[in-house]
Amino acid sequence: MAASVPRLLFWSSFVLSGIFQHPVDARPGPRPTLLNRRATNDTGRPCGALFEIIEEDLRQQLFPVFNAGDVYSCLTAVPFLKDVGLRFIEYYNTTLQFQSTLAYLESPPAEYQQPGVDVVTELGRVKQKVLDDQYTRQLDFEYDIHSIVHAVHDDHVNLFIGITAAFSFASPLDFVSASLDGKSLPKPYLKDDIVKARKAGWVEEPSPVATINNIDANEFLTQFSSRNAFGYLESHADWNDMFEHPTNDIQGFYGTLGGRLLFYPGNGLDDTFNITLEDGTEYTEHWLAFLNQLHSPGPLETAGDFYNYFVLGLAPPVEVNDGDDSGLVFDFEGENGLRLIAIKVDTDWIEESDGAFPEPEVAQPFLTLSGGGVVTGYFQDDIGILSIPTFEQFPDEAKNFSNTVQEFISKAEARKVNKIIIDLQQNRGGSVNLAFDTFRRFFPEEPDSLPWTWAGSRRRSHPLGDLVGDAVTQWWKGLDPEDDEQLFDKWDEAANEFVIAAKINPLTNTTFENWVEYSPGSANYREDRFSKVERLNLSDDQVLYSAFSIETVEDDPYGYGGNPVTTQQVWKPEDIVILTDGLCSSTCSLFVGFMQQAGVRTIVAGGLPETGPMQAVSGSRGTRAYANYLLDWMLKFTGQLLADNSSLPNIPIDYETRDTGLWVHHAGFNLRDEILKSDWEKDPNAEHIPRQFQYEAAHCRIFYTVRNIYNMTQLWSDVAQAAWKDPSLCVEDSTGYANLPDQPAPVPAPTRPPAQDARVVINTGATRGGPGQDPDGVPIFNEGDVVAGMAVKRAGLEPCGAGDKCPGNSICQSVPVNCANGERPKATEAKYCLPLCKPAVNTCAQFASDVKVNGALRCDLRYEAVTKSRKHDFVGLCAPREGIKPQNLCPGRPAA
Ligand SMILES: *[C@@H]1O[C@H](CO)[C@@H](O)[C@H](O)[C@H]1NC(C)=O
Ligand SMILES: *[C@@H]1O[C@H](CO)[C@@H](O)[C@H](O)[C@H]1NC(C)=O
Ligand SMILES: *[C@@H]1O[C@H](CO)[C@@H](O)[C@H](O)[C@H]1NC(C)=O
Ligand SMILES: *[C@@H]1O[C@H](CO)[C@@H](O)[C@H](O)[C@H]1NC(C)=O
Ligand SMILES: *[C@@H]1O[C@H](CO)[C@@H](O)[C@H](O)[C@H]1NC(C)=O
Ligand SMILES: *[C@@H]1O[C@H](CO)[C@@H](O)[C@H](O)[C@H]1NC(C)=O
Ligand SMILES: *[C@@H]1O[C@H](CO)[C@@H](O)[C@H](O)[C@H]1NC(C)=O
Ligand SMILES: *[C@@H]1O[C@H](CO)[C@@H](O)[C@H](O)[C@H]1NC(C)=O
Repeated sequence: MAASVPRLLFWSSFVLSGIFQHPVDARPGPRPTLLNRRATNDTGRPCGALFEIIEEDLRQQLFPVFNAGDVYSCLTAVPFLKDVGLRFIEYYNTTLQFQSTLAYLESPPAEYQQPGVDVVTELGRVKQKVLDDQYTRQLDFEYDIHSIVHAVHDDHVNLFIGITAAFSFASPLDFVSASLDGKSLPKPYLKDDIVKARKAGWVEEPSPVATINNIDANEFLTQFSSRNAFGYLESHADWNDMFEHPTNDIQGFYGTLGGRLLFYPGNGLDDTFNITLEDGTEYTEHWLAFLNQLHSPGPLETAGDFYNYFVLGLAPPVEVNDGDDSGLVFDFEGENGLRLIAIKVDTDWIEESDGAFPEPEVAQPFLTLSGGGVVTGYFQDDIGILSIPTFEQFPDEAKNFSNTVQEFISKAEARKVNKIIIDLQQNRGGSVNLAFDTFRRFFPEEPDSLPWTWAGSRRRSHPLGDLVGDAVTQWWKGLDPEDDEQLFDKWDEAANEFVIAAKINPLTNTTFENWVEYSPGSANYREDRFSKVERLNLSDDQVLYSAFSIETVEDDPYGYGGNPVTTQQVWKPEDIVILTDGLCSSTCSLFVGFMQQAGVRTIVAGGLPETGPMQAVSGSRGTRAYANYLLDWMLKFTGQLLADNSSLPNIPIDYETRDTGLWVHHAGFNLRDEILKSDWEKDPNAEHIPRQFQYEAAHCRIFYTVRNIYNMTQLWSDVAQAAWKDPSLCVEDSTGYANLPDQPAPVPAPTRPPAQDARVVINTGATRGGPGQDPDGVPIFNEGDVVAGMAVKRAGLEPCGAGDKCPGNSICQSVPVNCANGERPKATEAKYCLPLCKPAVNTCAQFASDVKVNGALRCDLRYEAVTKSRKHDFVGLCAPREGIKPQNLCPGRPAA
């Protein structure tokens, strides 16, 4: 359950490999400005002019920033190719068959707060448009696909493809939304005005924003957030996602409005962004665009080049003058082709939050933007505050995370603190084991019979999934532990999603025998079928190793495996509250679920400028974020296991994976839904509505205020007041909607608001540039190149830097170059940074827990480590089994 938002550390080390999603979340220090930005109003070559700027900025180590319209001119000039589009739809549709919630999305229960969407039908509509020649521009096609992805409102379902992955749009100013006194409805403010007023001791009240582009500011932002926010279960969370927040600042992220917009926000011709404050101050600014991938695109010139590079993943061939006759070399991975921008990451995070965070009294080591430390603790009067902005940690950091939580608890106990706030604002998830670990630190004892950390889940049953599950489970069960190689596989793959034989069937309290026992189960909804419920066995060393890369018992989650409970519960559930802003997702959702089942209450902050309840967890409540590249490997592996593999999606000869059509950096989906313990207990055989579609109101909602939005001390004290002293501080009509254990909510969930009429804030219709203006608009590509180049990228490898430098957690090694048949490699070996087998999220933890196939990375080059506690302990490097096919060394066409 990796969060979809990796940390800056991750981004800055791996951005060059191109596979990591959300690079745009990274924050290049203070907001970049358009100083000296030349207009690229050269309509003859809208993309060429852009690339010149990128080259120039990178040379000067500047973060490339543009007027949004200049980027839009280039994007709209990129042509559309029907065949590529159709192949992508095929790829994506097959991928989304694994999305657990299709039937519920099509016909959601009444308490679900977003409009439903029939994903497959919508994809079919786009396909029909392609067939009817209705697309002439790649951008329109990608926007239509993204509109479907947005309509899923599940943070685990994300997509980074083609030209929309190249840039993000941004407002030129930072906004927050806050109430004057906690009672009156919030209004938008400029963040800088709030911080300035705070620093001046509030001698003057900041003035709210009255209008944006002549529309009432709240109205503008409401519409804007419903179109642009990504992955939330209700519009209150969509709203919060737009704005800046201190907890975003300390993680290096912008709010969506401030730097993560996918859809072009201007109106096609005039990019002005005008705001007027209530005191009459006016700003006339322009929407901005940021480059997402900080490597030089090289000599790209035309919209056709842009197509090749960003849609197909191909760099244009350039002549080299060194007498080498092989021609096709463009070194966009090597030393000359890229320049890493110097980004200030080791900043003090209190400073980074404009002083909103006070000095912590407990802090995880390396508490800087890039440092890996995230947990902090504070004491105010008799209240202890534990701030957990993310669960995203590498395995070696996870230990310190856990220790810091314990240190906080011990200090709080010693100081006789009697109330606890756990602040999970902006927490998008991360390492699942930390949800279990953190929970047990607060509640070391839990009922054995049906533990609060039950964490049951189930998936969609469909023929392709069943085929894979059946084959892979049989393979795993057949591995011979006497054979070293097979023993490695057994450990590596114990938690593979398609190995069901290590998962617990709660109907029998034993592990599943085989896939058939598991899927399809009897559950049915809207004629769709689902598996039985499965549970993780957290006492199984193999599972802990495979799922969380945990190698020694000391690192097992607290209270599990070989790490027994040694402490006692300090606080009663009613003395703990959880603070969220609705954006809590994934592992965060799991953690809040555990805490709620133990009786802990939630307080949620912010939301739309209206009264009423709000949910505490509106990010994904799914239990497994999965990704296209893992699925592709599983499909290929299955193809090799089956005698008759003809029913698998076509994998063209020489392709590493299924044909993606266009360049898919990342396509995430949710594989398993959480099924609540309370629902299961009622009737294990009934249809269970996934937690994702249930209404889970917070126990109390508060508005952010002008005084507390950039002052955490004030915010926490306001939370404590509302939680324990004066419930009337909760927003009007926001209480009574939430369950406490064994008590139904007194007030039923609100019904789904009617679908909003899509008033157009975004207009993608107006043309600047456009197809046909480019003299060399015809894209040239060689499909083999796409896949060969991408295989290395997907595997997460990047070439070593000068002096064999590699990012942390990886080591420079020579790997064999092994090009496609008929290709003449330019070298037999190349130096690449191989990741250590331990790290989490997208590197080795996932490689270690999923079957690897030829050519992809696996945890290879192992060294057996001697430890007291485990049968086998390994350290190793993730290496490609059969060498790599780097695009700059494999020419991509047969040698003469
Ligand atoms: C872009 O427009 C500005 C203002 O209209 C003009 O001064 C400039 O010459 C134009 N640049 C190009 C490259 O056409
Ligand atoms: C998507 O896949 C499903 C299941 O295989 C199929 O019924 C449907 O027609 C496909 N839709 C498109 C648009 O390819
Ligand atoms: C913004 O203000 C400028 C200057 O008054 C005006 O020309 C422009 O049309 C305005 N833009 C919008 C989108 O209202
Ligand atoms: C964990 O904390 C210790 C100090 O307590 C530090 O020496 C070590 O480097 C930290 N490890 C990581 C990965 O942060
Ligand atoms: C499985 O274990 C649970 C909890 O210990 C128990 O309530 C249930 O009866 C058991 N089921 C079976 C089939 O043994
Ligand atoms: C979980 O794993 C442990 C250790 O391998 C094993 O003893 C236990 O039987 C497993 N639990 C179930 C329910 O299979
Ligand atoms: C299907 O099996 C054949 C024969 O074993 C193999 O060559 C081919 O690569 C397999 N296809 C897939 C998609 O795995
Ligand atoms: C935040 O608010 C508290 C309580 O009102 C105040 O004591 C503190 O000085 C404020 N912090 C800053 C940085 O202004």
